[in-house]
Amino acid sequence: MILVTGGAGFIGANFVLDWLAVTNEPVLNIDKLTYAGNLQNLASLHGDARHIFVQADIADGKTMAQLLAQHQPRAIINFAAESHVDRSIHGPEDFIQTNVVGTFRLLEAARAYWSDLEGAAKSSFRFLHVSTDEVFGTLAPHDPAFTETHSYAPNSPYSASKAASDHLVRAWHHTYGLPVLTTNCSNNYGPLHFPEKLIPLMIVNALAGKPLPIYGDGMQVRDWLYVRDHCSAIRHVLDAGKLGETYNVGGWNEKTNLDIVTAVCALLDELRPRADRKSYAEQMTFVTDRPGHDRRYAMDARKLERELGWKPAETFETGIRKTVQWYLDNPQWVASVQSGSYRDWVQKHYSLEGSA
Ligand code: NAD
Ligand code: TYD
Repeated sequence: MILVTGGAGFIGANFVLDWLAVTNEPVLNIDKLTYAGNLQNLASLHGDARHIFVQADIADGKTMAQLLAQHQPRAIINFAAESHVDRSIHGPEDFIQTNVVGTFRLLEAARAYWSDLEGAAKSSFRFLHVSTDEVFGTLAPHDPAFTETHSYAPNSPYSASKAASDHLVRAWHHTYGLPVLTTNCSNNYGPLHFPEKLIPLMIVNALAGKPLPIYGDGMQVRDWLYVRDHCSAIRHVLDAGKLGETYNVGGWNEKTNLDIVTAVCALLDELRPRADRKSYAEQMTFVTDRPGHDRRYAMDARKLERELGWKPAETFETGIRKTVQWYLDNPQWVASVQSGSYRDWVQKHYSLEGSA
């Protein structure tokens, strides 16, 4: 059995579904079910004995210890986090609590559990921490992509809290010998993505006839990876990663935000044309920029490809088409996560400046 934290969120749920589709190994899924945790993401596993769900907080060390003792997992994969940069800017507290304190408590529970293991169970145990490229800070236009040895320079409360958690994971290896692995991945996209992040928000707003808010000039660059490719990368690192090492995960898909929104609009124009036959691109609206907005991220994932033989299966073109189609095919999922109120606070902070 493996223990997955945050397995009701976007990447965690995709990981659990992917894991059970390609292995037969049971998953203990621990998730606090914050606004971002959605058990509907795992509806297809209802009644599947290979999936055990427990609602719990990773910062609750006592419960983590009990669950480890009870289920005896061979590995922990830590996805649980507060993950949205805008939310971290307007309310950083939860980010420190879950990403820093939560990771610390989970590490301590894992250390106690691992210390008591013996023989093969002890030597094969792994703690895999899922992190982000945002810990490296921002790149200038012609800088080379981030490698694993790039210095940490986080700029947002989110990335600072993830950087702190990465440092704790590293220290628990160097000080206590805990067998850890860390992955730093670029921006993910795909099914089950909560519509507060760029791609799902644009799809959902476009279909609802709402503005498509582009922060600043829209020329910020992100490196996009289809979520199931991130899941396969994590499986590779869990299987064969070297203890204490970090692995960059990326899709070699650098795109400006304007490229992304234009691509989403073009696909929607093709697959679900507007009633008035105008392009969804007409809904693009430039709004006040995000404070401290990182200009560019780019990941050099060659170590993972070279040492562990991982390669992404999707190009951006195939992945974004699958993603847009998934949102068109799952209006009930969209409706259920769309209370509307979760965006109110964004509208308060990012005022409309004009239309494209
Ligand atoms: P998400 O916000 O969609 O999901 C996070 C999940 O963690 C939710 O189910 C939530 O309920 C759960 N959670 C939050 N606090 C918790 C706590 N204290 N205890 C237990 N569960 C808790 O996030 P995501 O996009 O799926 O990201 C998953 C991980 O991957 C995060 O660690 C994130 O930093 C990292 N990451 C994300 C991206 C991306 O593009 N989304 C890229 C690189 C790395
Ligand atoms: P996001 O999906 O929030 O991911 P991250 O900030 O972790 O990279 O944002 C991706 C990019 O899109 C980022 O440069 C901010 C921008 N963005 C917008 O322009 N408009 C939006 O409404 C959102 C949510 C993001």
